[in-house]
Amino acid sequence: MITAPAAAELATRFEDTFGSAPDGVWQAPGRVNLIGEHTDYNEGFVLPFAIDKTARVAIKLRPGTTVRLLSTYGDQGLVTVDTAGLQPGSAKGWVTYPLGVIWALQERGINVPGMDLLLDSNVPLGAGLSSSHAIECAVISALNELTGAGLAAEEMVLTTQRAENHFVGAPTGIMDQSASLRGSKGHAVFLDCRDQSVQLVPFEAEESGLVLLVIDTKVSHSHADGGYASRRASCELGAQVLGVNALRDVGIDDLEEASGLLDEVTFRRVRHVVTENDRVLQTVELLTSDGPTHIGSLLDASHASMRDDFEISCTELDLAVDTARHSGAIGARMTGGGFGGSAIALTPVEREAEVRDAVVRAFADAGFAAPDIFTVTPADGARRLG
Ligand code: GLA
Repeated sequence: MITAPAAAELATRFEDTFGSAPDGVWQAPGRVNLIGEHTDYNEGFVLPFAIDKTARVAIKLRPGTTVRLLSTYGDQGLVTVDTAGLQPGSAKGWVTYPLGVIWALQERGINVPGMDLLLDSNVPLGAGLSSSHAIECAVISALNELTGAGLAAEEMVLTTQRAENHFVGAPTGIMDQSASLRGSKGHAVFLDCRDQSVQLVPFEAEESGLVLLVIDTKVSHSHADGGYASRRASCELGAQVLGVNALRDVGIDDLEEASGLLDEVTFRRVRHVVTENDRVLQTVELLTSDGPTHIGSLLDASHASMRDDFEISCTELDLAVDTARHSGAIGARMTGGGFGGSAIALTPVEREAEVRDAVVRAFADAGFAAPDIFTVTPADGARRLG
């Protein structure tokens, strides 16, 4: 019996579409990264949190290998796929994400039968808030339970990463799915990407009279494009030249020597990762001792490092960040993989309206599309709704 209103509605819609009730409804959130960008695939530290915007899937397993997929949004209509011959590169549109998860589970030797699947989501698409991982995490949570696979959260993280890297074709790390699967209301997820250990760090901005604003610039991006992969390749080159397993093993004190060993561009990429890891550790320390009031300058420094050293910002993100800072935010940075998507601005409640107005005006004056601005708070990770 499905009782949560959102789940009951999706279950009814499922039944209307496929002719019988689903086995259950699962949800998984998108994420915002507070700090720690492009550090995950360098075995470093990240501090994201699950947000109160989620993808939901209603699923019913069926014998055979036929999968029928439908979403409540978009124009792809009902898609029918035989998963027996599922190959990377064979799917298009949102169905790539659930099919990638099925493929990755099969690769692990888990027998996934056919199914009907209905997706609903209110995670903004292409906004850098991990709408794709939200889908993948909802699907893997459902299939982990329905197939009896019994994977631990860490294994689900690696399985969805495999789906992203090899089926979707985006060479991303483990941050997004870790936040979506392991998030907790009122907390940021301090994740050590080397061993996947997690410490939940209280992040309750309202208690300090602050809000965390997300500014969706509407500049869409894809991590399957070359920019993300080329940054990752630079980091791997840097680690190789410096003789370490991963940039995680390079400290701030090693940077001077590194500057003599690396070409100028690779050095700046390395400097971003090394200083960003340090900023994550400092942020965790400050949040734990004082709460969020004093982390503003670390957010600002993170943005400058991504803009100047890692070169993954864009004009719209810089405008959002600069305008937010000049109109009252105590710290702001782009969040996520970059090249578009969203910025975050930590803002005193009494300055929120001023920041919103200033950013909207600045975008209009620059001739950019109107941004979407909303607040987020840390929410629970993936779970079964009914
Ligand atoms: C994307 C990827 C993550 C991470 C961030 C950058 O969101 O999916 O794995 O690398 O970019 O921090």
